[in-house]
Amino acid sequence: MARFLSFEGIDGSGKSTQARLLAEALRGLGHAVTLTREPGGSAGAEEIRRLVLEGEPERWSPETELLLFTAARRDHLEKTIRPALARGEVVITDRFADSSRMYQGIARDGREGLGATVDALHALMIGVEPDLTLLIDIDPELGLSRAQARKGAEQRFEDMGLELQRRMRAGFLALAAAHPARFRVIDGARAPEAVAAEVLAVTLAHLGG
Ligand code: ADP
Ligand code: TYD
Repeated sequence: MARFLSFEGIDGSGKSTQARLLAEALRGLGHAVTLTREPGGSAGAEEIRRLVLEGEPERWSPETELLLFTAARRDHLEKTIRPALARGEVVITDRFADSSRMYQGIARDGREGLGATVDALHALMIGVEPDLTLLIDIDPELGLSRAQARKGAEQRFEDMGLELQRRMRAGFLALAAAHPARFRVIDGARAPEAVAAEVLAVTLAHLGG
């Protein structure tokens, strides 16, 4: 059965909220669930998360940043995702490789995107995709206002602004259109409970199939 699920979307779209609500709902239905996130999701990857999300925007070159995200993903896969799938659990991850395709793949700050390098590194070091990806789609202004309402040290990416988030949204929608068997696009501009109900229905249809 195909039990590896990911949430994707721009900052503040509601991924973390929805991942948590889905995990609770599936547990309530008797599924064993591992809820995890990227960057992070294993001890080593959480250390890399701090390196990559805190500090100045120019702290790492785009290439170094991509290597750090990929290293974190490899550790997450080895230490958390594969063992949980082997135990028969449903794995829900808040972000996975599609986030690298967008955030590192897209052109920004006057530089070309690293799309081809992202794909090559993914093929070399990761090599798996989720069985189902729930793309939580919202207007970037709404996402940014939600994300900025949260305080914290992890502001490096959110500080990159609205124009970048707009291109990310378009990029995520294009990725979903290119992989319709894996992606479901969910309208995130509704009350959390309404979004959660659709997420659960889509997931149960997938798990049952
Ligand atoms: P993400 O993980 O995509 O960045 P979060 O789930 O952390 O998004 O949500 C960002 C902020 O918006 C949080 O403060 C959260 O409580 C709030 N939020 C999440 N979903 C909704 C929603 N459907 N409507 C209004 N606020 C929301
Ligand atoms: P996250 O904690 O999910 O932020 P948010 O809750 O605001 O959506 O992710 C932190 C940031 O890391 C986010 O701006 C996206 C970025 N990121 C990448 O640039 N590449 C990646 O491969 C991943 C997984 C995340």
